[in-house]
Amino acid sequence: MRINNRLAARLGRLAELTEPFTTPLLPTDYAGLFNPLFGREIRGRVTAVDRHDDFTTVTVEPGPGAGRSFTRFQAGQFIGLGLQIDGRWTWRCYSLTNAPELTGDRLHRSERRLTISVKPVPDGTMSTRIADRLRPGRIIRLSAPGGDFHLPDPVPEKILFVTAGAGVTPVMSILRWLDQEARAGGTAGGTFPDVVHVHSERATTPAAPFGDELTALAAEQPGYTLIHRDSATAGRLHAEDIPDLVPDLAERVTLACGPTPLLDDLRTVIPDIRTESFHATDLPGSVDPADLGGEIVLGSTGVTASSTGTTTILDAAEAAGVPLIHGCRMGICRTCVTAVTDGTAVDLRDGAVYGPGEQIRTCCSVPSGPLAIAVN
Ligand code: FES
Repeated sequence: MRINNRLAARLGRLAELTEPFTTPLLPTDYAGLFNPLFGREIRGRVTAVDRHDDFTTVTVEPGPGAGRSFTRFQAGQFIGLGLQIDGRWTWRCYSLTNAPELTGDRLHRSERRLTISVKPVPDGTMSTRIADRLRPGRIIRLSAPGGDFHLPDPVPEKILFVTAGAGVTPVMSILRWLDQEARAGGTAGGTFPDVVHVHSERATTPAAPFGDELTALAAEQPGYTLIHRDSATAGRLHAEDIPDLVPDLAERVTLACGPTPLLDDLRTVIPDIRTESFHATDLPGSVDPADLGGEIVLGSTGVTASSTGTTTILDAAEAAGVPLIHGCRMGICRTCVTAVTDGTAVDLRDGAVYGPGEQIRTCCSVPSGPLAIAVN
């Protein structure tokens, strides 16, 4: 049975009112019997899966629990996507490739769509599952869009994008948004800004499904210049290539997305560059590795786990035989949040330090000395 989305939104509000009468279950647990888009977590329905040589593009209709941030994200941000694989929820982040809602617009819930384009990576559990087996109709879990890879506000007059391989995906969202806003006279002032896009890939043109669209954009928007570099014949892109390709580099706001070595290289030439890497970043500068590591008392289980400072509390507890509740394992979904009851923990994402009574995410925190946490 499929309930239309306006009714679903009303039922969502009704659920808040009826919660006291359905405890210990939530009203959404009952509603989920009728519509799988209802649930304690934010869910979405896969409406299309388009497979190309390199990328698989997935279109998702967010469920009733998804707020406006799911369509009013900032172009360039990513989304968390959860799939049940071999009986276990697996989470990964993927850049959104669609443009966010047009400025000043208000999409009806039934019009909301999100797209991601996934390139399978060797041994990539999630990416290969999406590429090989994901079908329309599948219900997936979602976390709200996030990340700070986006254009500043107001939109700069001169922009440089540097992308390599799958790094083109967040920039596709930004370019689609700029194109949409320019055509509608929106945020970017009704004109497409001066954009140079240097893209590197082992192919003579950017891979489908983006190649044709980028070529068409270059033809239709005079402000957009695509410089495609075939790394199979021209070699890998290096930072020292950029000033030759973009002589007015110093006048441009630069965003780059690609493998970490390329981004590190680019920073030597463009210090204030905004970047998005395929891989997790290193420890924040504020964290001294010598301060990390310790014994972790796991609630009232009677078990003590151990971390050297590189093993998260979640991993350490599992290694000690105490599985903790978790979801994405990457700091997005908050499923793993629990309280510090004694000692100190450090969040590896930003170096923030947490003490007794404070909440931590066990999937991305480590002890800093002796630590005790609540175990639910
Ligand atoms: S498991 Fe998702 S935030 Fe920790």
